[in-house]
Amino acid sequence: MTAPLIDPFARAITYLRVSVTDRCDFRCVYCMSENMTFLPKKELLTLEELDRLCSTFVGLGVEKLRITGGEPLVRRDIMTFFRSMSRHLDSGALKELTLTTNGSQLERFAKDLYAAGVRRINVSLDTLDEDKFARVTRWGRLPQVLRGLDAAQAAGLRVKLNAVALKGFNEDELFTLAEFCAARDMDLTWIEVMPMGDLGNENRIGQYWSLKDLRAQLAERYTLIDLAERSGGPARYVQLQETGQKIGFITPLTHNFCESCNRVRVTCTGEIYMCLGQEDVADLRAPLRDHPQDDAPLEDAIRAAILLKPKGHDFDYSRQRADGQVSRHMSHTGG
Ligand code: GTP
Ligand code: 5AD
Ligand code: SF4
Repeated sequence: MTAPLIDPFARAITYLRVSVTDRCDFRCVYCMSENMTFLPKKELLTLEELDRLCSTFVGLGVEKLRITGGEPLVRRDIMTFFRSMSRHLDSGALKELTLTTNGSQLERFAKDLYAAGVRRINVSLDTLDEDKFARVTRWGRLPQVLRGLDAAQAAGLRVKLNAVALKGFNEDELFTLAEFCAARDMDLTWIEVMPMGDLGNENRIGQYWSLKDLRAQLAERYTLIDLAERSGGPARYVQLQETGQKIGFITPLTHNFCESCNRVRVTCTGEIYMCLGQEDVADLRAPLRDHPQDDAPLEDAIRAAILLKPKGHDFDYSRQRADGQVSRHMSHTGG
């Protein structure tokens, strides 16, 4: 038995988020700038390298693997990678293989994902209004995503929608989004907008809609019951007593959840980020590539990185400015 990954704050790291591409077919305003420069292909880990990297983490006790991007489903031949990872589900080492997607490619891939052992997916969707959707994603088209949701459910995948709470943008959709999800038996999680990326013209404080306020608005219509159940990520859930529907809240700003953090992120070039809200990073590509037959140097590099995991993020809007900002885009680590 190898020792599990434990960080300096006694948190066990059992959840790995792997970004398989920095590219995306959308340009969401809070996630990317309009003119992004993407990495040259040769910088990327190959699918074989990604496999070895993820399998090493699984060997070190990772039980949940979430594939992210950019948009993970635009990476060429990504189904080969999912199929290959499913062996860790079969062996019982991995409890969950999943992804976070913008939904644009689900029509094409939903069945293959299910066949590879994926049972639950998170789809980012902030609005059900076609014009607003086009505005917030810059390049996306809502009908394509809605067809993707249908395809995912038809394939047997459980769907959770992730909506970033944006003031003056989707405040008026609090109930419509909840009803949409209830009617389709999908879960829904709201996320507080974080100060990441080149904020340029983006006014984060202006965009920020706190989930404390959102929750209070929800409570005007429904009785909210706090649930103890978790989905493995940072969301905390309530149940609407009147309908039974569950709604999740991811609250990096109003309620810090770092004390129970169980995750690290790896980018498509093999960098490991120990915290979404900090700049701490270590390279795993060199130990991976320099020792093609020996996993020990890679394992050592992973253990060394985990020992540098910070206590938490420093995001804070309470001084009427975006403190704790991180300059890299969310798309770099896939959220
Ligand atoms: P579940 O497995 O359904 O619990 O998903 P998850 O919340 O772990 O994954 P998802 O990709 O849906 O995450 C939603 C968003 O929550 C991310 O894109 C981030 O914006 C935010 N988030 C997830 N993990 C962290 C974290 O460790 N710190 C912070 N600050 N935000 C996080
Ligand atoms: N703040 C909060 N959530 C964000 N996401 C992207 N950028 C931000 C941000 N600045 C969300 C996306 C998606 C997930 C990967 O992260 O909507 O659900
Ligand atoms: Fe974990 Fe960092 Fe996210 Fe906090 S901000 S939950 S420490 S990754």
